[in-house]
Amino acid sequence: MDFKEQLKKYQMMIDSELGKYLRKNDCYEKVLNESLEYSLMAGGKRLRAILVIEAYKLFKEDYEKCLPYSMALEMVHNFSLIHDDLPEIDNDDFRHGKPTNHKKFNHATALLAGDYLFNNAYMVISQELLKVLQNGSQNELHSKIRAFDEFSNAVDRMIAGEYLDTELEGKEISLELLKYIHHNKTAALLKLSLRMGAIIAEASEEEIENLSEYADRIGLAFQIKDDILSEEGDKDILGKPIGNDREHQKCTYVSYYGLDGAKRELDRIIEEALEYLKPYGEKAEFLKNLTIYIKERNK
Ligand code: IPE
Ligand code: IPE
Ligand code: MG
Ligand code: MG
Repeated sequence: MDFKEQLKKYQMMIDSELGKYLRKNDCYEKVLNESLEYSLMAGGKRLRAILVIEAYKLFKEDYEKCLPYSMALEMVHNFSLIHDDLPEIDNDDFRHGKPTNHKKFNHATALLAGDYLFNNAYMVISQELLKVLQNGSQNELHSKIRAFDEFSNAVDRMIAGEYLDTELEGKEISLELLKYIHHNKTAALLKLSLRMGAIIAEASEEEIENLSEYADRIGLAFQIKDDILSEEGDKDILGKPIGNDREHQKCTYVSYYGLDGAKRELDRIIEEALEYLKPYGEKAEFLKNLTIYIKERNK
């Protein structure tokens, strides 16, 4: 199976796992459930969920053990996108090739669907922890509580980064501050994916640190590519508007280094990231391809 097929299969597996958490019952808040489903099942790349599983699989086979955390992370990510698109933040009308949540439903519903999804993630984790408390080993409980702590800390960083990104629109900022924003807004959740997978698999501290080095690089690379796509992507393939970073006078890698400079930075960082995968050999084959995909993706 080639990489593209493997990725598709992975995405379908994650969609079907996420589907298990949807609420389809008849109730007064039915529309809120539909609004959550609309965004969560809209066709995201599922990169964060996949990274959790791939990190886990570097150390252990039974990846079902990390699925609840992988789903919870995808929920938080999608919550961040619903709120990011709101008029008060990026004011975008399209995502995943469809009207954004507030355009499809209304602003209050989008705001609350985001909150709902956010809290759903924590419900998934608390249910998982209760199960482990009842049936799991002490080691599993320990690693899953640690993963929960890292989860909430990374979400904290993502929100701080999103705040700065929004508040500093239209302002000249230093490269240091730009890196700080990317590090928090985007890299924090991507790094969490890899760390959580390794922690739940009870990898050694040394292994967790090695994967964190890799994660720092793909976190940054991912946002640089997002900035490049916002400048020169195809909006029909991307499913979201282009030119909006420039329109909102966002300080990005492209505004700082220019398009070619940003691409050079991206190449350099991806090469560095790949170095950290070498010790895993064949086991990291899919991750290696995913790393290259982060650089070459067009959506
Ligand atoms: C978009 O993330 C927002 C950023 C953090 C840059 P993704 O491009 O991973 O979003 P989906 O889930 O695949 O749409
Ligand atoms: C998305 O960021 C939200 C977070 C990372 C929290 P962006 O605004 O940079 O991403 P897109 O371009 O809307 O997907
Ligand atoms: Mg934004
Ligand atoms: Mg945005």
